[in-house]
Amino acid sequence: MKIGWIGLGRMGIVMAKNLAQAGFDVKVWNRTLSKAKESGLPYAETISELIRDRDVVITMLFGSTSVEEVYGKIISTGLSLKGKIFIDMTTVHPDTAKKIAEMMIKHGADFLEAPVLGSITPAKEGKLTILVSGDRETYEKCMPIFQTLGENVFYMGDYGKASTMKLINNTVLGSFMAVLSEAVAFSKKTGLDTKTVLEILSKGAGKSGILEAKKEKLLKGDYSTHFSVALIHKDISYAVDLAQEYRFPAFITTQTLDLFSSARANGLEEKDFSALLEIYKKMANLREE
Ligand SMILES: NC(=O)c1ccc[n+]([C@@H]2O[C@H](COP(=O)([O-])OP(=O)(O)OC[C@H]3O[C@@H](n4cnc5c(N)ncnc54)[C@H](OP(=O)(O)O)[C@@H]3O)[C@@H](O)[C@H]2O)c1
Repeated sequence: MKIGWIGLGRMGIVMAKNLAQAGFDVKVWNRTLSKAKESGLPYAETISELIRDRDVVITMLFGSTSVEEVYGKIISTGLSLKGKIFIDMTTVHPDTAKKIAEMMIKHGADFLEAPVLGSITPAKEGKLTILVSGDRETYEKCMPIFQTLGENVFYMGDYGKASTMKLINNTVLGSFMAVLSEAVAFSKKTGLDTKTVLEILSKGAGKSGILEAKKEKLLKGDYSTHFSVALIHKDISYAVDLAQEYRFPAFITTQTLDLFSSARANGLEEKDFSALLEIYKKMANLREE
């Protein structure tokens, strides 16, 4: 399988490299071309040049708008897409996944929607969890790709379901981060020692993958980005939108969105989403630390 990879952000670059290291023939393209040039992987100068001789094209972009833009460009290359498989691994709104699937199938291509759970470290280790919607036969054909990138692969059925599940996962992720930030700021306000607090939480009610992954960041205030505030804000916005569509009262998710909106408004957009702690510290007048 000749693979074309579009999108060399924090996740895309490590995932594309994993495929290349596993022996796949990978060629990449990125909007900011310098990232493609510096990737050390074979690259194309244009989308058209990339997809021309590729059997499978994988996209890993920011969100719905960027996915619609890039797939629009793919169609407007005018190249025949018949027999090619496109896999979008971006976290998008389920309506976007359905719309892109319909468009690609109309143009003779196969399409899989395949968002991922897990951040940069699991991506580097090939330990992502991958949720896939689309035609089962196409899914099975692409299994060697999914098994290289992840250790858990779930077939979710119809288009939209994988993205819906991904958003539900991220409502847990975002609101969990919010309650952890609240707990850490609260404990600071009461004068408890943060290192001890984090250690006890990680053995008690806070015991979780997310606390394990973010413990050091919360302790040291190191908000170097793995998963940005901008990304969680985007995902929670889609989730709130979806809840409205279903007339579902998503109380906690809605409040979580407000918190991350506040983080964005306070200039933390490009920081890791654990930087939400800074918003709590600010609200609790704990700025001296
Ligand atoms: N980071 C994580 O921990 C994580 C975990 C699970 C899932 N995800 C999801 O995975 C996806 C990628 O995440 P990431 O952390 O890699 O994001 P990122 O670092 O922000 O990278 C975004 C990528 O999308 C490209 N892009 C954005 N808008 C575009 C447009 N209009 N046209 C073409 N390319 C465009 C960017 O190109 P430029 O380089 O030109 O800006 C970049 O390659 C997101 O949907 C995210 O929600 C992320």
